[in-house]
Amino acid sequence: MTALKKITAQAKKLCEQLKRYNYHYYVLDDPLVPDAEYDRLLNALKAIETDYPQLKTLDSPTQRVGGEALRTFATVAHVVPMLSLENGFKADDIIAFDERVRRYLKEEKIAYVCEPKLDGLAISLIYKKGLLVQAATRGDGVVGEDVTQNVRTIKMLPLKLRGDYPDILEVRGEVYISKTDFAALNKQQRKQDSKIFANPRNAAAGSLRQLDSRITASRRLSIFCYGLGQVSLADFAATHSAMLNKLQKLGFPTPPDAKSVVGIDACLQYYDTLLRQRDQLAYDIDGVVYKLDRFDWREQIGYVAKAPRWAIAHKFPAQEELSRILDVAFQVGRTGVLTPVAKLEPTNVAGVVVSHATLHNMDEIERKDIRVGDTVIIRRAGDVIPEVVAVVKEKRPAKTQKIHLPKCCPACQSEVMRVEGESAARCQGGLYCVAQRKQAIKHFASRRAMDIDSLGNKLIDQLVDKQLIKHVDDLYKLTLTQLCNLERMAEKSARNLLEALEKSKKTTLSRFLFALGIRDVGEVTADNLMNYFGELAKIQQADEEKLLQVPDIGPVVAQNISHFFKQAHNLEVIDSLIHLGVHWPKVVVKQTVDLPLAGQRFVLTGTLAHFTREQAAEKLTALGAKTGAAVSAKVTAVIAGDNPGSKLTKARTLGVKIMNEDDLVVLLSDK
Ligand code: IVH
Repeated sequence: MTALKKITAQAKKLCEQLKRYNYHYYVLDDPLVPDAEYDRLLNALKAIETDYPQLKTLDSPTQRVGGEALRTFATVAHVVPMLSLENGFKADDIIAFDERVRRYLKEEKIAYVCEPKLDGLAISLIYKKGLLVQAATRGDGVVGEDVTQNVRTIKMLPLKLRGDYPDILEVRGEVYISKTDFAALNKQQRKQDSKIFANPRNAAAGSLRQLDSRITASRRLSIFCYGLGQVSLADFAATHSAMLNKLQKLGFPTPPDAKSVVGIDACLQYYDTLLRQRDQLAYDIDGVVYKLDRFDWREQIGYVAKAPRWAIAHKFPAQEELSRILDVAFQVGRTGVLTPVAKLEPTNVAGVVVSHATLHNMDEIERKDIRVGDTVIIRRAGDVIPEVVAVVKEKRPAKTQKIHLPKCCPACQSEVMRVEGESAARCQGGLYCVAQRKQAIKHFASRRAMDIDSLGNKLIDQLVDKQLIKHVDDLYKLTLTQLCNLERMAEKSARNLLEALEKSKKTTLSRFLFALGIRDVGEVTADNLMNYFGELAKIQQADEEKLLQVPDIGPVVAQNISHFFKQAHNLEVIDSLIHLGVHWPKVVVKQTVDLPLAGQRFVLTGTLAHFTREQAAEKLTALGAKTGAAVSAKVTAVIAGDNPGSKLTKARTLGVKIMNEDDLVVLLSDK
């Protein structure tokens, strides 16, 4: 084959592949590959077409903006075409964009508006005499689908405008679904055994393109508006920022976190800030958009093919990539739950090499039809454990291996059982199971439990494997000689460990209760138990009825606690721990109703400057408040320090009050 023939064949193959991916992504809302893989193939095709322009065809994927319209919806021709955006990946691309803009305009510094680039789908909304008369998807940019009935179900969109509006006003925006609404939707879908959406974009698209608008209405779609189409008023606005203001006054939601800046450096700063906040935002974004603020300048600069020269999307690193499942192992947790974990071909996802991903449980494996040998889409977002999003079915090799739940525990060979109606499978070995014991000891020693410094997970594995310890109380029986005989253990480290063990004996009743690892007894419940009963003996003797009196304890937890303290073995370990010197200060049981913060509930997130989160929680509880980890509408306020977690996002979505450290200091000192 000649070189040209080879390249022609390559281009043709890329074309076909991209078209199929396009169709699945845009028309079926069911992507076959991650966006990053799509971009790579598209760039490869673009490169060939640049070198060999004769290979460019009119219907090449490089020539079109979106996908085809579904036949089942009426089609709508856009009076003003719906354009796309040029993408920039590196700061250099953005600096080059700004240089081009300045060269064109012969200006020194340019005013831009920075907006998040939300991952949803573009929509055109036509208002006549203030009433929403038509909503259409972008389709291929020239012709889209009429989704008016569906868009009318979006609660945050005005069906009638307020104030002064032009006779004809076409507003462009993005329909999306927030992270929490996405999670809730998939949870619901799972319950009903319906289709699970791979990502928020597909969920939004899938929900909007429903022929039955009642289904759309049941989905919590969001929208924000960022542009104009046809407008029957020449001077609606002179700048983008003025337009956003005006749209807001008319009742439209505009881009959250949008910012007006001057100069490209400020744009790049905006990018850095949003990238850092990415995981905390209430919505998924795949980058930010910079837009020239002045409309007269936009006219001067104009357009290339399908995108304006006056705007650019600055993309974030992809959170989804392709990898392959090499093997699946089952990890045994503290309560015996078996979690399937995929061993992956090491893959770089947004700068971190990922070689393992959780498969959650057997139900999830069945639902996604995951097999060893499959090529899969993996996702790593923030500090959550990487997960397998979906299988790329068309890349499935002839021979794959189905994944089976082992009949016996991989650590202790005890029977594995699945409870009816629960997706978790559990090893029945209990304290016989070495994996469960290791996890229990790791939990006992952890920072928020007994806080045994310098007792790492690897060391615990070694101590259990060497049979130097079996249960948590054995930790306090370790001797210097025993420790010094361990591999890689110098005398100094051994002494440090013994010191840390000694120090950990001084604890609080609530930490001790938490450290015991009773199923469903987290820090909050442990705290509640301590404050209600005041003494360990009283908790041990409490029956389920009595336990139900404790705030936040329901029947299941009450049963778990009472069951735990009925096991002779557990009582032996507790007695032994106390005998070995574990102790805590006497607890004064307060009548919490009389305290100033009684009945109030707080959630702490992020790093505080003046106290640790635990100290802050102690101070709040001392004033009668409750603290916990779960953000719900019942929470009085979320107190956010530096680098807050997803709790802040959740608080924002639920409209829960948010306080900072200064507010907390005031709250504590006021009382
Ligand atoms: S402006 C001519 N602003 O990204 C400019 N688009 O890749 C048209 N998008 O089709 C788009 N957030 O679906 C603009 N703040 C934003 C956006 C945004 C998301 C989407 C939109 C567009 C696509 C282009």
